[in-house]
Amino acid sequence: MTKAVIAIDRNSVVAPINRRIFGSFVEHLGRCVYDGIYEPTHATADEDGFRGDVVELVKELGTSTIRYPGGNFVSGFRWEDSVGPRENRPVRRDLAWHAIETNQVGMDEFSRWLKLTDSELMLAVNLGTRGIEAALDLLEYTNHPSGTTLSDQRIKNGTEEPHNVRIWCLGNEMDGPWQTGYMSADDYGKIAARTAQAMKAADKDLELVVCGSSGSSMPTFGDWERTVLEHTYEHVDYISCHAYYQERDGDLDSYLASSLDMQYFIETVVATADHVGNKLRSDKKIKLSFDEWNIWYLDEHRESDEVNDEWHEAPRQLEDVYSVADAVVLGNLLITLLKNHDRVASASLAQLVNVIAPIMTEPGGAAWRQTTFFPFSVTSRLARGEILNPRITVDSYHTAAHGDAPLVDAVATVDEDAAAVFLVNRSTTKSIEVSIDAAGLGATAITEAATLHDADAYAKNTLEDQERVGLKVLEGAVLNDGVLTVVLPPVSWSAVALAL
Ligand code: AHR
Repeated sequence: MTKAVIAIDRNSVVAPINRRIFGSFVEHLGRCVYDGIYEPTHATADEDGFRGDVVELVKELGTSTIRYPGGNFVSGFRWEDSVGPRENRPVRRDLAWHAIETNQVGMDEFSRWLKLTDSELMLAVNLGTRGIEAALDLLEYTNHPSGTTLSDQRIKNGTEEPHNVRIWCLGNEMDGPWQTGYMSADDYGKIAARTAQAMKAADKDLELVVCGSSGSSMPTFGDWERTVLEHTYEHVDYISCHAYYQERDGDLDSYLASSLDMQYFIETVVATADHVGNKLRSDKKIKLSFDEWNIWYLDEHRESDEVNDEWHEAPRQLEDVYSVADAVVLGNLLITLLKNHDRVASASLAQLVNVIAPIMTEPGGAAWRQTTFFPFSVTSRLARGEILNPRITVDSYHTAAHGDAPLVDAVATVDEDAAAVFLVNRSTTKSIEVSIDAAGLGATAITEAATLHDADAYAKNTLEDQERVGLKVLEGAVLNDGVLTVVLPPVSWSAVALAL
């Protein structure tokens, strides 16, 4: 059997875990909001119309900060439409997704939903069709306690306490020609700097995210980050990264190594940000907000007619159904985010419900977990304390897309009385025996050993078969004299929790 050796050094600390690394994203897109988190006629709906079964699944998923309300949607959004008496709210065309927006869920309702799920709001402002004034108005409405026109309007609308939103996105994917009001890096850098300066004049402690490239394959990738940061460096705290992966041309070997691309992406943005910082002689380090990451079968959606010339409310869009292999890749992407948590301080799995999502719903019916739900929920539950970057000795295999890739990837976390190791086996054919030297951690017992694996790497949970794929016990995990031995099945993601 192929073998791997992993050494976990208690001193190889990447960073303490900030729960914002387990963020997600709710966009007014397809059935994410309407028929997703919100369905007033559903049997489990509360007085605001929010589905209770979805709230329970979101809590189990373990997400933290939720980015809202877009995405591409935000670049045409007038936030004022979404507050006040529901019967007075305008119905608009959403040009980003070619859909009808009824505004029945807005700022105040969504904040109430966040409380149900114990989540923090990450709010995006519209820098596509709007600008500084609308951003400042929204900030006043959400965060000012009382005694001004907009804060009093919020109170009149039923929200006494300010929402106190701490982290804000300055637009969305402003480099993308598909974005309403997209701009050159120079133009965007200028408007982002002025908006950031004005928002911080209202509250100097806000945390602001400036748009990076919408993907590492954009022709302006790198140059965009440099130019935008040259304008905004001293005004912002984060630069965004967005990355989506999918299996292409049946090349599962390459697909399973997707996290190598994410690693390259992170290193390039860090190098570019530090280059600008050095040029400006700044002591400050810009953090990365990986505020869109996931599996997305984008090529197939581009070929479909789901975004067409018709105008519908909550159309079925981007409803990818995920396989075991997709979940293994997602688990590996999360390992990569954790390994880079010293610079990637915030991340959002895009998205949360129905739209490229770990949770699916049917109107009037069930809510269920996709395969990708499991690695995210287990990592979010078990990862505590500090992240440790282990040394992995294992064979590599060749991929067409990413060159040579190690067969196994892993990360560990450690707290006062518990530790956890998260692992993937990228081999499509071989089980791998991994011997993990955890003596330095003082591990005394295995408290949980779970794996996501199936004889069929393409098995999925569907409306008809909602529990076809789930976590299984990782058989044969043994702890002996501080050495943990596990056997990882092919195409698998696993987690082992240890008592110290
Ligand atoms: O998450 C789906 C879309 O992907 C978002 O609206 C956009 O920001 C990105 O292109």
